[in-house]
Order: sequence, then structure tokens, then C-alpha cells
Amino acid sequence: MQWSPSSWRNFPIKQQPEYEDKELLASVERELKSYPPLIFAGEARNLQKDLARVGRGEAFIVQGGDCAESFSAFNGETIKNLFKLILQMSVVMTYSSGKPVIKIGRIAGQFAKPRSSDFEEKNGVKLPSYRGDIINGIEFSKEARQADPTRMLRAYNQSAATMNLIRAFSRGGLADLNQVHKWNLDFIKGHPLGDRYEELSCQIDKAMKFLAAAGINSQTAPQLRQTVVYTSHEALLLNYEEALTRIDSLTNKCYNTSAHMLWIGDRTRDLNEAHIEYFRGINNPIGCKVGPSMEAGELISLIDALNPNNEEGRLNLIVRMGADKISKYYPPLLRAVKESGKNVVWTIDPMHGNVEKTSTGFKTRDFENILSEVRKFFEIHRQEGTVAGGIHLEMTGENVTECTGSTSSPITADKLGDRYHTQCDPRLNANQALELAFMIGEEL
Ligand code: PEP
Ligand code: CO
Repeated sequence: MQWSPSSWRNFPIKQQPEYEDKELLASVERELKSYPPLIFAGEARNLQKDLARVGRGEAFIVQGGDCAESFSAFNGETIKNLFKLILQMSVVMTYSSGKPVIKIGRIAGQFAKPRSSDFEEKNGVKLPSYRGDIINGIEFSKEARQADPTRMLRAYNQSAATMNLIRAFSRGGLADLNQVHKWNLDFIKGHPLGDRYEELSCQIDKAMKFLAAAGINSQTAPQLRQTVVYTSHEALLLNYEEALTRIDSLTNKCYNTSAHMLWIGDRTRDLNEAHIEYFRGINNPIGCKVGPSMEAGELISLIDALNPNNEEGRLNLIVRMGADKISKYYPPLLRAVKESGKNVVWTIDPMHGNVEKTSTGFKTRDFENILSEVRKFFEIHRQEGTVAGGIHLEMTGENVTECTGSTSSPITADKLGDRYHTQCDPRLNANQALELAFMIGEEL
């Protein structure tokens, strides 16, 4: 059947809201279709080239950000802190591995959430589940939980403002390698990890002075003063994604212009359903989550559907098995793909397979399990002689207490309530993310 930005509508679909006011929905979609794109297709092609390098083992991906962005926590400070954290992690990994880091935020559009249940029940009251700020409100009331199409317009506008700031930080001086000290977040300073980062910053300073003496500085070499941070999100709400799917004037091909990269969630990757139909027609680099229920034959068919021309850098498989499952379920998949000769970029999401609930009712993840899944991922790739391409994290530059553990400033289960702010899943705080970056730097 012929693909079009709307052909997904002919397929069964999971994890979607029920909009009551269909006319309002249609008018919002029309309005979104008239809005400017948030990215240019040429940037998506650059990302594909970068991912192709990752697939060949020449670069490494750091992809990270909130589980779900929110309307209420929207401010410049939070965006800046995440931006700095991504830069810090990159510098740590590049310094120890000598490989460039391709930086991708889960940001500027990461609003829609798949849920394990369509309904939530509290004290005998049953309401539709929260599905992310682009769909409904998190508050437990009938009004808030009603799916509201106009939220898509607000999500678009917030994404546009976020994207604008990221672009400004990337080129305006904050990302200058002469500023590495300034990327250290205040609450990390004075911690052993902050000190370790300071040491590394001093070494980079020395290297910069050396280069400057040789006539290479931020003025003569733009690579030293600017960077590229790509954007990405799970393209779950296809009404929104369709409205931002446009034909690129240079190539006449369809691109999703709401982010550079989009991915398919583990719960919506059924071969015969709407999300695969939508994704097969867009030309951005795309991701697909690979959980423990994936079978080798299914994975090969999925790769064929999503990357029929076997392009390099087109498809990122994001493995999320869980620390206790990855050794059993991942190697057969990796081997099958290796033997098929198909080009994919493998990354590890050590978050979504490691969720647990504390006795006090918090949804958390233990840092030890996260580290352990990442280590096993590297180990499996070493054994198979294949490329471990990067990490995919839920993290924030804020000093939250959502995941337990870490050596630098341990969070115990009874402390989770102190600053538990996530809209959805628990995120690594900057300390934990930086500790992980140092560990991966050593692995690389
Ligand atoms: C996510 O990345 O936020 C997510 C829901 O992941 P998964 O589809 O792997 O469960
Ligand atoms: Co999540």
C-alpha cells in the first residue's frame, strides 16, 4: 500500500488517547500543519551521517533527558542544566576514549507517554491514566485527565522555545571548550565527582593553551566554540507527528520536522500496526526500543520494514532488557542481526528494564542495576566483536532524588521523597549521570 503521512490511520494503533471533540481535534491538526517546522531536513541528514560513524565505531552516542517534559517545569534554568550535563558527559567520554560524542537530547518534544494501564484507580475513583502533558493533565481529576487536543499547540510552542535556547547555547559561547569549568553544576562542586571533573577540566585547559600557542583557538577553529545538540522524542502521538511531517524542498522526501530523531516505544512496535507504518515513510534517523519480549525473527522483519535499503545511520536499536535479563535475551538478537549483515546502531537504555517499587510506594531504579546493565551491554559487544554505540538515559541536570544509589552521593530509599519531581519515570540526577559517564569513559 502507498505510504503517506496519514496512512498510519488505516492500521490498528495502541497507546492513544480518546478525543471526545473530533472537530476541535481536526482544527488543531490543521493549525499545526500551518506552523513552521522545528528542524531542517538537512540537519536530520547530518545526524544520519553522524550515526553512520557511530555504527562504524568512530563515535559514541549520548542521548538523554526527561522521561517526560512537562508544562509546569518549563524554564530556562532546567534546559541550561541539562545542556551543561550533556556537555560534561561528552567531554568526560571524549577525553578518555578519543572518540567524538554525538549529543542527542530527549527534549523539545518528549511529551507523550505509553502507560501500562489505560486507567488509574485511587480510593475507588477510576480515571483515565495520565499520558503526558501533550495529551492530558497529571492531576487526579476528571477535568485534568480528559484528553485535550489544544495541548498539542502548547507542546509545539514549548518545543519551539526549547529548541531556540538549545541552538543559542550551542553556538553562542556556552559550549566553548574554554568554558569546561562552567559546565560543572553547583551542587556537584565539592563532591568527589565534581573534583574529578575539575581535574579533567584543568587538563583540557592546558590542552587549549597549547593549541592557542600554536594559533588554534575558538576564533580560528569554530569546532572549539560551538557544538551540535540534536533533539529527539518518542513519536507516540501520531496526530501531532503527522501534522509536522513535511516534504523537504531539497530532496522532495518526507521528514518529520518536530525533531531530528524519533523513536518507537517498546509497546508500540508491532510490525502490523500504525507506528511502524508511520515510521517507514519518514526519512529522519529513527530509533526502536528492543525489550526482552523481542524475538530474533521479529527483529529482522522490523529492520527490513524500517530500513529496507540497509542505509547506514538510519536505524538505532535501543536495548532495554534489565540488568537481570540482558545476558540471556540480548546475545541471540545481536548475533542474528550481525549474521544478517544489516546496518544498525546499537545503544543501551539501562533505565526502562530496571524499574522497581519501594515499600514506601516510590517508583525507582537502583544505580547499581543501571551500571550493571551498561557493563553487560559492553561485555556482550566485546564478546561478539560488534560496536556498542552509545547510551540512552532518563536524566536531569537538577539535584533530584529519584533513583537510588551511586557512590559519589548515595541516595537511600528513605530519601526518595526529598526531591522526587519527575512527571513519569525516575531520572538520574547530574551526579549519577556523571558517574556513569566516567565509568563508560573507562569502558571505551
Ligand atoms: C521511554 O523511553 O520513556 C519509554 C517509555 O521506553 P520504553 O518504550 O522502552 O518502555
Ligand atoms: Co520513561
